[in-house]
Amino acid sequence: MSPIIIEPFKIKSVEPINFTTPGYRRRAIEAAYYNLFLLKADDVLIDFLTDSGTAAMSSKQWAAIMDGDESYAGSRSFFKFEDRVKDITGLSYVIPTHQGRAAEKIVFTVMGGPGKVIPNNTHFDTTRANVEFSGSDAVDLPIPSALETGEYAPFKGDMDLDRLEDLIKTVGRDRIPLCMLTVTNNSVGGQPVSMKNIRETKALLSKYEIPLFLDACRFAENAFFIKQRESGYENKSVKDIAREMFSYADGCTMSAKKDALVNIGGFLALNDASLAEKARSLLIMTEGFPTYGGLAGRDLDAMAQGLDEVLDENYLKYRIRSIEYFGEKLQKSGVPVLVPTGGHAVFLDAKRFLPHIPPDAFPGQAISVELYLEGGIRSVEIGSVMFGKEVDGHFKPAQLELVRLAVPRRVYTQSHIDFAAEAIIEVYKRRDRVPGYRMTYSPQYLRHFTAHFEPMDLNKDCPS
Ligand code: F0G
Repeated sequence: MSPIIIEPFKIKSVEPINFTTPGYRRRAIEAAYYNLFLLKADDVLIDFLTDSGTAAMSSKQWAAIMDGDESYAGSRSFFKFEDRVKDITGLSYVIPTHQGRAAEKIVFTVMGGPGKVIPNNTHFDTTRANVEFSGSDAVDLPIPSALETGEYAPFKGDMDLDRLEDLIKTVGRDRIPLCMLTVTNNSVGGQPVSMKNIRETKALLSKYEIPLFLDACRFAENAFFIKQRESGYENKSVKDIAREMFSYADGCTMSAKKDALVNIGGFLALNDASLAEKARSLLIMTEGFPTYGGLAGRDLDAMAQGLDEVLDENYLKYRIRSIEYFGEKLQKSGVPVLVPTGGHAVFLDAKRFLPHIPPDAFPGQAISVELYLEGGIRSVEIGSVMFGKEVDGHFKPAQLELVRLAVPRRVYTQSHIDFAAEAIIEVYKRRDRVPGYRMTYSPQYLRHFTAHFEPMDLNKDCPS
């Protein structure tokens, strides 16, 4: 059979996308204060803002939606969902939530609090916000190569175990109620964590009796990378690899909007009965009864089906290859891309793309705006807009200045990807003429969602 990897599905239902003119896009982005979160989605042609909640559900998931049981308590859909989660994770208590951050909120309300410290290979922004909101410190411990965007390494998502042990010794185990591992590590490029690193993180934490939780949003993509790249796993099924990953965890939070292939949903799963009881009490106050947790019964049914489909190796092969293809096409034209490409997105390295724009003039934001102007493409800055801070009146930049093009699951075809790559290459060709941005409004938490910007004068404000 041909070695070409094709989309492993055919299309039953289509949704039109809107073409706009350059003049229209210029007015739209200005009206959105140059923040792509504030655009109307109808004004976007290809939406790479996120892979979260944007998947196309399968015919079987839509059938499951029809079959959902909307009973307030003891819904059949819950038991189906619970069975599926237990089958994959082996964790004892499964608590549905309306999405990942609701699970985070519950975990850190129950386990976090002032004076505590939460290590993670790298916190996602909502995870960090929930940790900090509880009064705890969120500490990122990626391995050094995670910050070298041009350097290939198979498992750049790994946790730096030396720094983890130093942290435990410095702050003391009593202040660390849990440690998290984000699989795949979204904030450093959707990079996978190796099984070796998961196993060794668990072994180190066990010495100090600290529980390990996985932030499991993209567990199936992580498991597929292990199959492709880690010796000893090439002949194992992705499902068995996923089960082994979870076997080292005492709990997990999950945004089902990623690897459960649904538009809304999430869960928290754990082994500790007393923590589960506390979590359920909070759940009832904020999300809903423990057998629906902020979701409709039909959503639980769709999640159960999605968790099954995501472990299909033909699907994962296509998924990971389609991201790699996107990255390769850009690299062939010299566009600086984070390598290797991750599981859910291509990340542009804005520092190398726009060397004339310093971090405090937000090079990633500048690229995002240009991609919209060029091709109606929506991406997201993951750099100093998202993670930069004012410390004692001084600007502290993020470690990396990235632009993420997150690819929704089963939504776009290869020609959409080709079109987007061409638009990015066009912007790269005229990169010298791209201006930096200044932030004119910023809220206290998660500022990237609602901040306002204005373009700087290229000659006056960004001397090269
Ligand atoms: N953890 C990780 C690693 C994530 O990527 C996300 C969401 C969450 C937790 C929170 O889940 O959105 O269901 O509440 N990431 C999305 C993104 C929003 O675009 O990467 P949620």
